[in-house]
Amino acid sequence: MTAWRASVLTLFPAMFPGPLGQSLAGRALETGAWWLDVTNIRDFAADRHKTVDDTPFGGGAGMVLRPDIVDAAVASVADERPIVCLTPRGRRFTQADARRFADGPGLILICGRYEGIDQRVIDARQMLEFSIGDYVLSGGELPALVMLDSIVRLLPGVMGSADSASEESFSAGLLEYPHYTRPAEWQGRRVPDVLLSGHHGAVAAWRQAESERITRERRPDLWDALHLPKHAATAAE
Ligand code: ADE
Repeated sequence: MTAWRASVLTLFPAMFPGPLGQSLAGRALETGAWWLDVTNIRDFAADRHKTVDDTPFGGGAGMVLRPDIVDAAVASVADERPIVCLTPRGRRFTQADARRFADGPGLILICGRYEGIDQRVIDARQMLEFSIGDYVLSGGELPALVMLDSIVRLLPGVMGSADSASEESFSAGLLEYPHYTRPAEWQGRRVPDVLLSGHHGAVAAWRQAESERITRERRPDLWDALHLPKHAATAAE
């Protein structure tokens, strides 16, 4: 089987691999557990000024990436992989999406800049539009790095089995419990006694209770999604 492959289309190729060349993802890139290629959208500009964008029809601020140029860049890497476009207008990217994409052949990621990409090429190429959160960044490059990091750590052989459990806990819809290590007392603060007790059942119960408390306090949306019927949780969003 060929390795999971990411193709990134961007106007700022120097932003890659960036942090994905380090740590877990970087090691996995070196060992061939996944592949990354980066394409400069500007290489597909047709004029001598290397123009990739133009003013929006209907007026307004900003510039829009031309459909013909984005399409030519996509054509240079396109195969059976899903095509993702990073935009604050997209559906919110979640752990479930990371798992689904990790189970597939790879991704083609288009990093938007300026006001966006001409809608016709988004439609024609059936791009999936994703946002990484409700804030506006200056382009899709950081979101693409975030998405790839969350996916690559799920690929087979990238992470040891000890770490895999942490994904399961988020997938179960709860935030993680707090962690402690030595020294058992630091600046007058003691580690909770139960963690030093050696009772595995009691430790597990404490961790579950802490996960539930923290999720209730910090993320009532996640908590409600666990406890309301599916249609009610959707209506409450
Ligand atoms: N481009 C700009 N902001 C973004 C966001 N929050 N998510 C995805 N792409 C973006």
